[in-house]
Amino acid sequence: MTKYAHITGWGMAVPERIMTNAELSKLIDTTDDWIVSHTGVRERHIAAPDQSTATLAVDAALKALELACLRPDEIDLIIVSTSSPEHVFPATACLVQDAIGASKAGAFDLSAACSGFIFALNMATQAIRSESIKTALVIGAETLSRFTNWEDRNTCILFGDGAGAFVLQASDEPGGVLSAVMRSDGSGGDLLSVPAGGSHLPASHETVSKKQHVIQMNGREVFRFAVRVMESATRESLEKAAIPLEDVTLVIPHQANRRIIESAVRGLEIPMERCMVNVDRYGNTSTASIPIATIEAIGAGRLKAGDKVVFVGFGAGLTWGAAAAVWTGPFLAPVKRKVRPVSYRLYARTRSILRRLWRHIEGIIWGRNNLDW
Ligand code: UT7
Repeated sequence: MTKYAHITGWGMAVPERIMTNAELSKLIDTTDDWIVSHTGVRERHIAAPDQSTATLAVDAALKALELACLRPDEIDLIIVSTSSPEHVFPATACLVQDAIGASKAGAFDLSAACSGFIFALNMATQAIRSESIKTALVIGAETLSRFTNWEDRNTCILFGDGAGAFVLQASDEPGGVLSAVMRSDGSGGDLLSVPAGGSHLPASHETVSKKQHVIQMNGREVFRFAVRVMESATRESLEKAAIPLEDVTLVIPHQANRRIIESAVRGLEIPMERCMVNVDRYGNTSTASIPIATIEAIGAGRLKAGDKVVFVGFGAGLTWGAAAAVWTGPFLAPVKRKVRPVSYRLYARTRSILRRLWRHIEGIIWGRNNLDW
């Protein structure tokens, strides 16, 4: 019997600190009017020093698990889509796995910039549909404020920090994520990048002084590319899922710029009311923007069980994609299980400390340099 991948839990986390356009206009030569009229952004959330991509991802993940009534040890796979990982390695997903105590999950990061959440959603869906796993946690998380040049008015006005997570579960019931389109064009890689810090241009005093470790963008080119691909990817994913556009309750686009979203909506010939926009309050949270917008749409009563929805995004790479789904909501267990995120945090921390301690003891027993096991 065919398995379907249903979205049964969701959670989001944004830093408490809000940076308004007025505040930005004290740092750089810009105005609230310019930012609002060119991008639609009014404010964005910025991570505190003790917050990072992993801490936001963990907060979002635990909320999603609570809603889905699942324990972390019931998760088979964790994918964290991010362009601002904690480290080059280990993967941020492994840190999330440890912090929530998902003791049976494989975990990896996916790098496809702002399209990453769609790519990750598709990878988790395919793993469920092929019956290789039953339950997945897909997280989009960013702290791009750490990779922003706060002196560059072309980019620093755009980005914000945040995370959003979906729980996907297998079911024989038709529904859930039904199709996805994933596309890339590396010839445009230089249009939006963080050039230094990788193997091509390792971090050095020179790269830091030349500001090559922060976001560089050709805004106009990215804008043109985005307008070109948003409509076609949306139509293609709906066609693959055999869902007519008229039946779609909500289009949830990547929240990069209100003008890009409006132009995609014009191309699709649908009213703006059928498109979710919250870029005004969060800015561009990159791969986290689609799950955050989805969760706000649910909160506003704009997305309910049974509704047809399409997610569409674009970003660095260049990458772009879309996914069509029938919205599900939590699988309600006969008796609602109590799932307590706070206790899981404590349990996971204890488990992590014990595992480190055990590795230390093992080192003493076997000898630090003895590898003849
Ligand atoms: O997830 C993907 C992330 N990237 C994107 O989505 C970026 C897509 N591109 C955009 O959103 C837009 O291209 C921007 C918002 C970045 C820029 O808007 P634009 O309408 O394309 O402006 P522009 O780059 O064509 O610049 C127009 C003018 C320039 O001045 P001159 O040369 O005409 O005198 C800029 O220097 O606006 C100036 N400008 C600003 N002025 C005030 C650029 N940034 C600012 C600013 N405040 N922050």
